[in-house]
Amino acid sequence: MHSYSRQSINQADIEAVIEALQSEYITQGPRVLEFERTIASKVGAEYAVAANSATSSLHLACLALGLSAGKRLWTSPNTFVASANCGLYCGAEVDFVDINPATYNLCPIKLEEKLIAAEQTNQLPDVLVAVHMCGQSCDMAAIGRLAKQYNFRVIEDASHAIGGKYHDEYVGNCRHSDITVFSFHPVKIVTTAEGGMAVTNDAELAKAMESLRSHGITRDPSELKDVNQGAWYYEQHALGFNYRMTDLQAALGVSQLTRLDEFVERRNQLAQRYNEKLASLPLITPTLLGNCKSAWHLYVIQLAEPSCRRRVFDTMREQGIGVHVHYIPVHTQPYYQALGFDWGQFPVAEDYYHAALSLPLFFDMTEDEQDQVVAALSDAISSALNIS
Ligand SMILES: Cc1ncc(COP(=O)(O)O)c(C=O)c1O
Repeated sequence: MHSYSRQSINQADIEAVIEALQSEYITQGPRVLEFERTIASKVGAEYAVAANSATSSLHLACLALGLSAGKRLWTSPNTFVASANCGLYCGAEVDFVDINPATYNLCPIKLEEKLIAAEQTNQLPDVLVAVHMCGQSCDMAAIGRLAKQYNFRVIEDASHAIGGKYHDEYVGNCRHSDITVFSFHPVKIVTTAEGGMAVTNDAELAKAMESLRSHGITRDPSELKDVNQGAWYYEQHALGFNYRMTDLQAALGVSQLTRLDEFVERRNQLAQRYNEKLASLPLITPTLLGNCKSAWHLYVIQLAEPSCRRRVFDTMREQGIGVHVHYIPVHTQPYYQALGFDWGQFPVAEDYYHAALSLPLFFDMTEDEQDQVVAALSDAISSALNIS
């Protein structure tokens, strides 16, 4: 348990990758398309565009939505830096909306307050990145309503949330958003080693992301400006990137997806078990809203006595237990401080951060291992409280 999470690779996954390796294409072959189609149909979206990471997918999503210099992206401070950096990549200004202390997700009430103030000064956002922290969906109906009222576009950063549900439907159907992004890093629910995917119901957005993923180049005869050329011919129509996923990664992804519901079910069982075992300790366990099924990428507790967090963390790490902290509020990173942000601006995310501790949670975790974590946590808190 040296890490808070890790991949679960079975023999079928290994065979799928070997088969891809022995095939004609190891990149840009049929498996990427198959992976895209499988995800789209699983989550209920029309289109899916794979990429080499969720960071790349977020960048592609922002570009497809027209984010550029002079425009604004808002997101949660309680996220990995990639959810905000994608706005900076496009030259846009980035700002944050504080979180709901119970769900750890961006708070729609605070969002509305900030939108009302921004309207007065003509500084409404163009894009909002709603991060489904730990695997629990944001209040997407409320966010979608505000997006219509204040005319901004919405990206769901569902890096933590593939296989999770909102109102009984898989996260990713984009009912209240323009684009949803998933991550397939090994600590996530399903993995392709590195990898990301953007899903959408908008054909134009999908086409833009597909083009920008591969240098802004097209070979589609219906799009070429010069149609009197040979089969070698291609044209670059935009400044794109090489953000492509390989067929080796996609082969792993397709194989992993067959276990998606199983992965999420087991994570739910383990999270429920943590809730029960930790109930009597001086800490707050995560709050799940009734309309959500979390994918449980992370299980984050908040210590009742935040001043103990460092000691509890160090004690558990010394015992080889891979606790972690998610997330240092993005606006407090030195890079963001240099842009003008500072501590004190988003106090709920900051208070949460000071108390937060992520406990190990992964598909192959045994109940014995989980009991060890609970016992070690209980001891670490007791001794930290006695010392302080
Ligand atoms: C919320 C969130 N967004 C984006 C990313 C970036 O994902 P990737 O590592 O696939 O680029 C992460 C990765 O940890 C994340 O947690």
